[in-house]
Amino acid sequence: MPGRLKRDVAVVGVGMTRFGELWDMSFDELFIEAGLEALEDAGLSGDEIEAIYVGNMSAGRFIDQEHVASLIADRSGMTPVPCTRVEAACASGGLAFRHAVLAVASGLFDVVIAGGVEKMTDVTTEEATSILATASDQEWEAFHGVTFPALYAMMARRHMHEYGTDREELALPPVKNHRNATKNPKAQFRFEITVEQVIESPPIADPLRLLDCSPVSDGAAAVVVCPLDMAKELTDTPVVVKASAQASDAIALHDRETLTGLPATVEASRKAYKAAGIGPEDVDVAEVHDCFSIAEIMAVEDLGFVEKGEAGEAYREGMFEIDGEVAVNPSGGLKAKGHPVGASGVAQVVEIVEQLRGEAGKRQVDGAEIGLTHNVGGSGGTVVVHVFERAD
Ligand code: COA
Repeated sequence: MPGRLKRDVAVVGVGMTRFGELWDMSFDELFIEAGLEALEDAGLSGDEIEAIYVGNMSAGRFIDQEHVASLIADRSGMTPVPCTRVEAACASGGLAFRHAVLAVASGLFDVVIAGGVEKMTDVTTEEATSILATASDQEWEAFHGVTFPALYAMMARRHMHEYGTDREELALPPVKNHRNATKNPKAQFRFEITVEQVIESPPIADPLRLLDCSPVSDGAAAVVVCPLDMAKELTDTPVVVKASAQASDAIALHDRETLTGLPATVEASRKAYKAAGIGPEDVDVAEVHDCFSIAEIMAVEDLGFVEKGEAGEAYREGMFEIDGEVAVNPSGGLKAKGHPVGASGVAQVVEIVEQLRGEAGKRQVDGAEIGLTHNVGGSGGTVVVHVFERAD
């Protein structure tokens, strides 16, 4: 069946740095810390790694360094292992993970590291905003001064207009995610916020406020993948990749069929559910791409957890809390855990693997068996969805 992996693949090791303003660590040190943690977790040494895939959006602009794949292989003492950089804006990490999975599923390699890294805080907010805007359509959007918060603000306005989503409902995902992040020692923002604080925080792009936005962050994440048979020898708790799916769409918002959701999320999740043989109702825990509050609202609808336009009410009822029907962003999500853009997609995998192993500590989702990651590039030009299951 198209979309089905030809060989079962599992995650056997996970690692990540803390996320935040990490002025004491360089780009390569971030990757090395996450990679070493993942190797140690897998009980493997660097000599056993056959390939590395690394998600990175824009080291060239953030730290003036291109050719980062080889830099990482060199600085981590892994040369001559092939190391490949994968770029799809904020979906770079999710796509790097997908390519690692596909490489193992194809039989090309057995033991592969998928990582992601970004060092964003060495530039000013103005520069970061301009760098991030390179992931939008230069000709039709960025050139005219449209920033990422502005693109998502337009989607928020349209969602409010079509479905009556109100300002208070828009604040509920960040409030939940900040609460979850207090239980995550690696999160950037480990403090609670209220609906009132979100609504009264400084305006960024109307109707989005400061506390509707994910921050600018440094950080790295890494995981080790290998065939399931091998994983069972290595660990008692392998987590199987049940599906890997990707979809693309127009970069420019005006070329999309809708502004109130991401068609690429609908398409990627449809393929992922089919390949995994499950439906949205089977998902226990999901890490979704909440770069802005409206992004999480659209994600839970596009992934099929609720009908279109019904997210606001579902948030009010607590459906997406850690003890809700489907726990969404127990890690704190991009909003509160932090969003080093190239690393975020891999950090989502780290969280889901810890959840399915039952190792997520105070933020553990009781009895989680099926997990999902949803990573978006830009305003929805790329979407990558993975489905995971705890192996018996
Ligand atoms: N959420 C909560 N607090 C935030 C924050 C956020 N997103 N961003 C910054 N802060 C806090 C800082 O910690 C700081 O707090 P302090 O005064 O207690 O130290 C304060 O707000 C000011 O920080 P500063 O860095 O000066 O904020 P800023 O105004 O320069 O940047 C944004 C705020 C929203 C513009 C910036 O975070 C941003 O661009 N976010 C979106 C990133 C993005 O587009 N990513 C890609 C998505 S597709």
